Amino acid sequence: MRKILLAALFVSVSAIISCSEGSKKPDHESAKSENTEDCETSTIKDPNEVKPMALMMRTMADYCDTMRLKINKGEKVDSIAFPLMPFWSAEPTDSSVLETLFFDNAIIIQNAWRKLMSSPENQAANYTAVVDACVHCHSSYCSGPLRRIRKLKLDYKAE
Ligand code: HEC
Repeated sequence: MRKILLAALFVSVSAIISCSEGSKKPDHESAKSENTEDCETSTIKDPNEVKPMALMMRTMADYCDTMRLKINKGEKVDSIAFPLMPFWSAEPTDSSVLETLFFDNAIIIQNAWRKLMSSPENQAANYTAVVDACVHCHSSYCSGPLRRIRKLKLDYKAE
């Protein structure tokens, strides 16, 4: 019994290792790979250095991935499964973003998010307004993730 358990453990550990190695892209492949989502000015690559604002952004992007699929299937989304992330009060990688235009954009997305969650009707249109708000702020502040954000649109088709 012990041997079987050990064997199973070994298999799963090596599967995890090979999986994470397999997902790494070789350096010579396009400098801007799918996984490059940092802001263009950001040079921080150490995962321990990821700031709270960046983490909340990743969570929001993950939420949108899921919401997109649900809304396209006609399922409802709500703020229990997808709470609004208070990223505007979290520490950013580059504190120079914390200016009036940034906070104005943050208010736009807060309103769009609340509208999406508070009205079960028109979720497609209200979700589109949320993604437009992501794009709007990212056009001013952090253009790196725009490619990822475009994939959050309801009608995005993988090529
Ligand atoms: C008010 C402006 C603003 C809005 C709105 C906004 N972002 Fe961001 N986003 C930023 C800034 C600034 C950063 C850089 C954060 C940092 O590095 O600390 C960022 C970073 C990101 C990142 C990269 C995080 C990483 O891994 O380093 C992703 C992905 C992202 N945003 C997705 C989204 C999505 C999806 C939305 C909409 C649901 C959104 N953003 C809305 C300003 C905004």
